[in-house]
Amino acid sequence: MIEELDKAELHVHLEGTLEASELLRMARENDVDVPYTNVEDVDAAYEFSSLQSFLDVFFQGCRVLRRRDDFADLATTYLRRAAADGVTRAEVFFGPQTFLANGVPLEDQLEGLFDGFARAHEETGIDAALVASAQRHRSEDDALAMLEAVMPWADRIVGFGLGSSELGNPPSKFLRYFDAARERGFWTTCHAGEEGPASYVWEALDLCRVDRIDHGVAIASDPTLVDRVVRDQVPLTMCPVSNLRLKVVPDLASHPIRELFDAGALVTVNSDDPTYFGGHVADNYRRLRDDAGFSEAELTQLARNSLTASWT
Ligand code: HPA
Ligand code: ZN
Repeated sequence: MIEELDKAELHVHLEGTLEASELLRMARENDVDVPYTNVEDVDAAYEFSSLQSFLDVFFQGCRVLRRRDDFADLATTYLRRAAADGVTRAEVFFGPQTFLANGVPLEDQLEGLFDGFARAHEETGIDAALVASAQRHRSEDDALAMLEAVMPWADRIVGFGLGSSELGNPPSKFLRYFDAARERGFWTTCHAGEEGPASYVWEALDLCRVDRIDHGVAIASDPTLVDRVVRDQVPLTMCPVSNLRLKVVPDLASHPIRELFDAGALVTVNSDDPTYFGGHVADNYRRLRDDAGFSEAELTQLARNSLTASWT
């Protein structure tokens, strides 16, 4: 039933969709040292206590992606899987700064991804769009440089986002970045209120004026902010299994997605980094049904919300 719901996935990091077997293959073919010899080693390493503990492992995995074909394979593998989950539109995050720092030319990164988008579209009909994501542990000047550097591919990029280590890196650090993206006609979105406080969500909305909030778990701690996101129908791209795996919430029954959904917020369900967290988008819907009491009608509404919130 869940796979049959026509849905958009709006919060997924392509780098976070790398299958363990593919990680090992690329490490071997590209001669990159990784601390894993088999899939069991990889699975054992995917135990996280916080966002940062995850990001350290995530950036380590990114090191194996070197060639244009690696990026094409990454995108194709994810999009095929998403299509099987009933995703008809995927707006995928990708962080070029990681791979530029690893010495991979931007052209190989982006042309590879677009090769993968085209291949998956031919095979399954899935519609994919790229959201270039800056990293908040780096400077705002670095974010602006990334935005400039991807401009040759502007017609293939739908929006700009902000991810990585949240605490100590508030959205207000990236005001000029979001202004520059908006002035050039792109949609904008910001990870906020994942581990950070409600004030980061206020900053993202009022100072950075972003179009969507990624995660937004902390919104529920501030009744005025709940009213605000309900009133303005601000899309929230929530990722319940991710939040569970990064210890943002103790269990799914107490995840604020229930409270926000019941309050009338435009909540959507997404996977974030599915191969690291052990759940693709349909698994996230299933967990909400099994562990948070979402009915079939409510899951249908969540899927509808994802199409409403998509940038098409
Ligand atoms: N939060 C912030 N940055 C990220 C995440 C996340 O969940 N996944 C990949 N980059
Ligand atoms: Zn994310």
